[in-house]
Order: sequence, then C-alpha cells, then structure tokens
Amino acid sequence: MPAIDKNNPALVAPKRSSPLFSPGTGDNSALVIFVLGGPGAGKGTQCANLVRDYAFKHLSAGDLLREEQDRPGSEFGDMIKSYIKEGQIVPMEVTIQLLENAMNAEIEKSGNRKFLIDGFPRKMDQALKFEEVVVPSMFTLFFDCDEKTMHERLLDRGKSSGRADDNEESIKKRFRTFVETSMPVVEHFEKEGKVVKVDANKDREEVYEKVKEQFTKREVPKGQ
Ligand code: ADP
Ligand code: C5P
Ligand code: MG
Repeated sequence: MPAIDKNNPALVAPKRSSPLFSPGTGDNSALVIFVLGGPGAGKGTQCANLVRDYAFKHLSAGDLLREEQDRPGSEFGDMIKSYIKEGQIVPMEVTIQLLENAMNAEIEKSGNRKFLIDGFPRKMDQALKFEEVVVPSMFTLFFDCDEKTMHERLLDRGKSSGRADDNEESIKKRFRTFVETSMPVVEHFEKEGKVVKVDANKDREEVYEKVKEQFTKREVPKGQ
C-alpha cells in the first residue's frame, strides 16, 4: 500500500475549530444521513429510492473515490486504486475533502442541503473528523445483511459492474475490513442512539418499506 505523505498540503484535513455547517436545513446548515452496511448490502439501491421520494442528494464515498481515481492528473489516483483493490480504507483526508467539495458544489448548484452520505464513515477517524469539521449527522441508516447474501449479490453485480473489487479475493478482504474497521463506527453511533437499523436480507421493496417507516418515525423532511 503506498504510504501517504502527511505533509502534502492537499492531504491536510480541514483545520477548523467548529463544523462548516450546522445540522438541519436552514441557512448555513446541512442535513446529513450516513448510510452504512457491508459491501453489497444494498446501500446504493435504497439511496436511489430515497433520492426519488425525499429530495436527497446522494453522495457515495466509493463513487467519489473512483471518480477521483480516474481523474486525469489526480495525485491520488494510484493510491486510491490500490486501497480499493485491497479493500482497505483510503486515508480520511482524501475522502472528507471529496465529500466536502461535493456538498459545496451541490449547495451552489441547486441549493439542496440534504445529503445521503453512502459508504461513509467506514472508520472511526472518518466519523469523528467529519462530524467535527463538516457537520454532525442526523443519524446513521444501517443496512444489516448476512455475509452469504452480500457475497451472492456482489458476485452477481460483478458480472456487469466492471469494478476492480467485485471479485472473490477483494470481496473477502472487504468483508474483513467491514467487520474489523467499519462495525465499530456503527457501534459508536448506536451508543449515541443515532442508528436506524434495517434488515437488508429481504427483497428491495420490503427493505424500502422498513426504511420509509423509520424515516417517518424520525421525522425526516420530504422536501428540500
Ligand atoms: P452496496 O451499495 O451496499 O454495495 P448495491 O446497492 O450496489 O449495494 O447492491 C448490490 C447488488 O445487489 C446490486 O446488484 C443490487 O442490484 C442488488 N440488490 C440490492 N438490494 C437488493 C435486494 N434487497 N435483494 C436482492 N438484490 C439486491
Ligand atoms: O462503498 P463502496 O463499496 O463503493 O466502496 C468501495 C471502496 O472504496 C471500499 O472498499 C474502500 O476501499 C473505498 N472506500 C474508502 N472509504 C470510504 C468509502 C469507500 O476507503 N468511506
Ligand atoms: Mg454502493
């Protein structure tokens, strides 16, 4: 794994003493829901439903990293590529900066301040830093799914996804990272009473019904 140069100015996480946004939907605010779950649990699939019905902007950390990896001239391209293939978590400075840029771009473009942040935070340092310098989350939507189900879904997705990590070897590593590194994030937010857990083994429609029930209960606004 390439080492990262912590002295590289592009890699310094924003140094602020307070978050960029306040939580919510007013001026200078942002409403953020983190979407977590193992690889293949159905995060992206369910986010598409929520974008349609709740006017969220969907930001997938994995998609942003793949985009940055492919951007001509990116100084992080090679690093991101090897982290993704190995199922490791890319250093948080890169991912937080990509998310912050995407949030600012969306606010500028449409004025929408409601974000589903999918596949993030996947490590405790990301969780703490994002809430410290960007915005505290409203809650985490956690898709709880058996490994066997996720494994089948990923191999099926791999037939057409073109992803470098939808193969047996990478999947095994990604599951391990999920259990060892990402589940502690879910447990951290659980202690704060900020986790909405949904059984993701069911079919797409059933899963979404449960999501909607929870969003109604938590009074997530439907409009921007
Ligand atoms: P994630 O973003 O969590 O990795 P995806 O949303 O990409 O997961 O879903 C992984 C694969 O499983 C995709 O091919 C998707 O079409 C499929 N899928 C998603 N949800 C379900 C479900 N509830 N039942 C069966 N297949 C599903
Ligand atoms: O969410 P997705 O499955 O698209 O993520 C693909 C990969 O991107 C992860 O396995 C990991 O290598 C990287 N990633 C990361 N940090 C995140 C999200 C994704 O390093 N917060
Ligand atoms: Mg996804």
